[in-house]
Amino acid sequence: MLKPWRCCLPLYLLGLVTPGLVLAGHSFENTAIVRTIELGGSLVHVTTTYAVKALEDGSRLYTLALAEREHEKTSWLEAKIKGEAATLPLEEFGYSPDGDAYLYTVELPKALKLNASTNLVVDVVQTHVTYPWPAQAAQADGQSLKYETDLFVLSPYRTAVQRTKLRSPDPQVHSYTTLDDFDDFTTESPVTKSGATITYGPYYNIPPSANKEFIAEKQKHIAVHFAYDHPMLEVTSLKRAAEISHWGANLNIEDQMTLHNSGAKLKGHFSRLEHQSSHFYGRPSPQMLPALTLHLPAGIHSAYYYDLNGNVSTSRLRQAPSVPKGAQNNLNSIMELRPRYPLMGGWNYSFTLGWDSPLRDYAGWDRQSGKHVVGIPVMTIINGAVVNDAEIKIILPEGATDIDFFPPFPPLKSSLSTHVTYLDTIGRPAITLHYKDLTYNHAGTIYVTYKVPFSAHLRKPIAVATAFLSVFLVAFAAKRVDIRIQKK
Ligand SMILES: *[C@@H]1O[C@H](CO)[C@@H](O)[C@H](O)[C@H]1NC(C)=O
Ligand SMILES: *[C@@H]1O[C@H](CO)[C@@H](O)[C@H](O)[C@H]1NC(C)=O
Ligand SMILES: *[C@@H]1O[C@H](CO)[C@@H](O)[C@H](O)[C@H]1NC(C)=O
Repeated sequence: MLKPWRCCLPLYLLGLVTPGLVLAGHSFENTAIVRTIELGGSLVHVTTTYAVKALEDGSRLYTLALAEREHEKTSWLEAKIKGEAATLPLEEFGYSPDGDAYLYTVELPKALKLNASTNLVVDVVQTHVTYPWPAQAAQADGQSLKYETDLFVLSPYRTAVQRTKLRSPDPQVHSYTTLDDFDDFTTESPVTKSGATITYGPYYNIPPSANKEFIAEKQKHIAVHFAYDHPMLEVTSLKRAAEISHWGANLNIEDQMTLHNSGAKLKGHFSRLEHQSSHFYGRPSPQMLPALTLHLPAGIHSAYYYDLNGNVSTSRLRQAPSVPKGAQNNLNSIMELRPRYPLMGGWNYSFTLGWDSPLRDYAGWDRQSGKHVVGIPVMTIINGAVVNDAEIKIILPEGATDIDFFPPFPPLKSSLSTHVTYLDTIGRPAITLHYKDLTYNHAGTIYVTYKVPFSAHLRKPIAVATAFLSVFLVAFAAKRVDIRIQKK
């Protein structure tokens, strides 16, 4: 009966997905919902714990609802049983028939008996959800952000008690919605503040809320305005090219990135003098970004970093030695990247960062299928940043066949093309994946498998030999021409 509106959008950015779950009408009650919102700059982390009680035997499929605004800002969502590591299978249904809540079905690890309960923890990372307020700030001013959300966590089930906590990273909370004259579902104060934490609730006996009537009559809008003296980093564009070369036993990774500080826009002109004197007094402008520390893989060499004006020599790289594949080791090469100018609010900075790695650190051979297996990291995490648009291109050796790829989460789109470089004869197959709004949760590995026929291995030496031969022939021809001229 519910099937007609079942949405078949590509499942995006989810953990594990089991196709074929049907939105079954298992009935539950939420004995408690606690939502904790860790406010931040480009990223906001929301953890919601649902204490769930089954109202019938064999209840296994629990429906989660997100309000429209929340759904639009969610770039990562995963559900677990409290205290357990495994993520639960989820299916995304899209908007409910009346279009007011975005629904997911979560499959519990085992069916619950009547009156049995469990705690479901849903982790969400939201992006582009806070904004600077005021939108402009002078170089020495502080910066403040606003975050807006809905008061009630929506659910298709009745909820016995519900709370929302908003935690500001800075004790300076300028203002928050106080809900004067609000006495629905509560007899106490509807909101309390303690230090940097604002708590909405407890609210009692909330009827099923993932429907038009509840949203129209009871839902409230809340906002928090808090100090945030850090840059708000966005990577507006990331283009990663990973080139696999068996001939050179090398993996080259090159990132072309545009950074954007989406914090309060700099009011007036940038003063280098003010910048330097504030540095001198140890009070640098709080929302500017002077440098970035990146954790690059161990074992890299020949790193390069340049921008539109050429080589940037103010960066430093501490290389960590190569780590054998599969070894449990958290060694990283540390790159301290210092842009040519400090990145103020509203400013952009584009650069290219690349390095080489021994291919053996990333590649293996699957005896059973006779295929090479190479793991390519999706991206390098930039702390606190969201990657708005990412294009990841994996360039395979010339002549590779039987190509398959296994991304850690489904791309928005993917394509196979041919990439031709110097000394290539037929070009190299390349896989390109597109993503949006990536965060630290998305730093997984894309596995690529392929075969390289023996003839393809020979193609490169033959191409090189042919190149030498043609140079030789040209020289030979030139010499003959020369002789003729001399004769005249
Ligand atoms: C389930 O809980 C309800 C109310 O708490 C109670 O009336 C009922 O007897 C319980 N059923 C079982 C099988 O425990
Ligand atoms: C670029 O700068 C680095 C110092 O960070 C230096 O070691 C390297 O030789 C420079 N490369 C070129 C091509 O100038
Ligand atoms: C930064 O880039 C964005 C587009 O990504 C553009 O709209 C904006 O004008 C740029 N800002 C500056 C200061 O150039």
